[in-house]
Amino acid sequence: KRIGFLASGRGSNFQAVIDAIAAGEIPGIGVGLITDNPRAYAIERARNAGIPVRVIDYAEFPSKAVYEEELLAAMRDFQADLFVLAGYMRILGQEIVREFSGRMMNIHPALLPAFPGLHAQRQAVDYGVKVAGCTVHLVDDGTDTGPIIIQRCVPVLQDDDETTLADRILAEEHSVLPLAVKLFCEDRLVLEGRRVRIRP
Ligand code: GRF
Repeated sequence: KRIGFLASGRGSNFQAVIDAIAAGEIPGIGVGLITDNPRAYAIERARNAGIPVRVIDYAEFPSKAVYEEELLAAMRDFQADLFVLAGYMRILGQEIVREFSGRMMNIHPALLPAFPGLHAQRQAVDYGVKVAGCTVHLVDDGTDTGPIIIQRCVPVLQDDDETTLADRILAEEHSVLPLAVKLFCEDRLVLEGRRVRIRP
C-alpha cells in the first residue's frame, strides 16, 4: 500500500511509522510527506528517510479554501491508498475529508470521545481523570470524532503535569499508530456503521 503523511511539527509519530515500514513490519511504502509548516522537524525526518516532501506553507495563502485546494492537489499527486495525520494541527475541510473517507487516519493523545481538540493532555490533567491514553481513528468531518481503530491507556499519576503525561501517552502513540497503519495495509480494518472491526 502507498502511505502518505500530513504533519505540522516534530513528527515523532511519522518517524515511528516510517521506522516500522523500514523494519518490514508494515506492508507498505511511504510515498510522501505534506506539511503546512516550513519549520516542521518532520521535514528533516522525511529527507533522512528519502521520502519526498511537499511544503505547503499555510501562511502564504490568502484563505483556508485556497490553501486546501493546493493541499488536495498535492494529496492526489501522491496516489496514496492511505493518509496518516501524524500531528497535523489543522482541521481538514469537507472536500478533503470526503475524498479520503475510510482511508485517512489520525492519532489523538486522549481516550476519545473524551478531550477532543487541542491540548488534550492538559485537558485530561485539569479534569482530574485517573486514566488517559491515545486513540487512532478514521477521519470524518468532525474534530476527532471518527470511527475508533485502536486505543491505549496509561495511568495519570498524582504529580503529573501536562508534559509528564504527554510523554507517557506519546510512548503509546508510537506503538499504536504503526500498528493501525499495519492493520490498514493488511486490509484488516472493516468499517461496520461507525464501528471498526479488526479481522484476525
Ligand atoms: C501527538 O501528541 C499527536 O497525538 C498529536 O500531536 C502530537 C504530534 O507529535 N496529534 P509528533 O509531531 O508526532 O511528535
